[in-house]
Amino acid sequence: MKVAVLGAAGGIGQALSLLLKTSLPAGSELSLYDVAPVVPGVAVDLSHIPTDVKVEGFGADSLDAALAGCDIVLIPAGMPRKPGMDRADLFNVNAGIIKTLAEGIVRNCPKALVGIITNPVNGTVPIVAEVFKKAGTYDANRVFGITTLDVIRSEAFVAELKGLSATDVKVPVIGGHSGTTILPLLSQVEGVTFTDEEVAALTPRIQNAGTEVVNAKAGGGSATLSMGAAAARFCMSLVKGLQGEEVVDYAYVAVENGDAAYFAHPVRLGKNGVEEILSYGELSAFEEQAKNDMLATLNKDIQEGVDFING
Ligand code: NAD
Ligand code: LMR
Repeated sequence: MKVAVLGAAGGIGQALSLLLKTSLPAGSELSLYDVAPVVPGVAVDLSHIPTDVKVEGFGADSLDAALAGCDIVLIPAGMPRKPGMDRADLFNVNAGIIKTLAEGIVRNCPKALVGIITNPVNGTVPIVAEVFKKAGTYDANRVFGITTLDVIRSEAFVAELKGLSATDVKVPVIGGHSGTTILPLLSQVEGVTFTDEEVAALTPRIQNAGTEVVNAKAGGGSATLSMGAAAARFCMSLVKGLQGEEVVDYAYVAVENGDAAYFAHPVRLGKNGVEEILSYGELSAFEEQAKNDMLATLNKDIQEGVDFING
């Protein structure tokens, strides 16, 4: 298993790389790429952890070498938010970065499973897809927007509210990854019931959790440690799928005849990435309304990504 982290010297990149160094299967290779000159040092640092995962660092001029033969590529490269910004405000800076990295994937590992973390995820995932389409290498089953942070936050907040062990709580989250496009399905949390007031308070808390971190870090960036944990968890789902295990996880994927061209769904993962897009089941009246209300925003975000490549 060869896994690349693009943007590996950043806040998410370093946390994620640490977790992958300690959790990828023995014999794996971890390829760390960043334009920041510290990246070889991050690789040396991690290489002193005694696991059977080989780590190599690649600087600005070595994107092709970093990506050669990768099975999985995770992308946290790009600028994070500061207080007062929306994720959409990052589009102008991050769209070009994502395009360049996607072109590198086309050249070096067109069959890799690609997990995109860079914001705004609602638009950066379509950018990657459009670059792959132009190159003739697109496979919708291999491109994922990583929305696991919304899932793990929901687990943490529900466990906190209900006095449960967080490891026992599972919360489906569908839609996109910004504000109201994030839709936790509290009606589907097994063994837990919520009052209308709890749903009305918890839903926006989950939707605004990124802003909660941005404000708490007061100009020092956005979520890095929880995102590192989320991306590592999602990567291990991809790894298990590639190893032939059947795994179901949530991700923002291309959906035919769905609510929008890209929408976070439960997906069955396997050797080819998405083996099946599963139904998210029945929604409560509150969730149905919230879904209908956010679709215009999500569609606009998606179109911005598509237009960046084709416009
Ligand atoms: P950061 O500034 O700490 O790290 C970003 C890294 O990207 C830096 O090391 C930088 O050198 C590198 N980089 C910039 N341009 C690059 C390029 N062309 N090629 C390779 N590397 C490049 O930021 P961070 O806190 O790690 O956040 C990274 C991104 O992830 C942001 O866009 C942020 O909004 C996003 N994010 C997404 C989620 C999510 O749930 N999907 C969660 C948190 C953050
Ligand atoms: C998050 O949800 O924490 C990330 O998308 C980062 C952000 O800007 O909120």
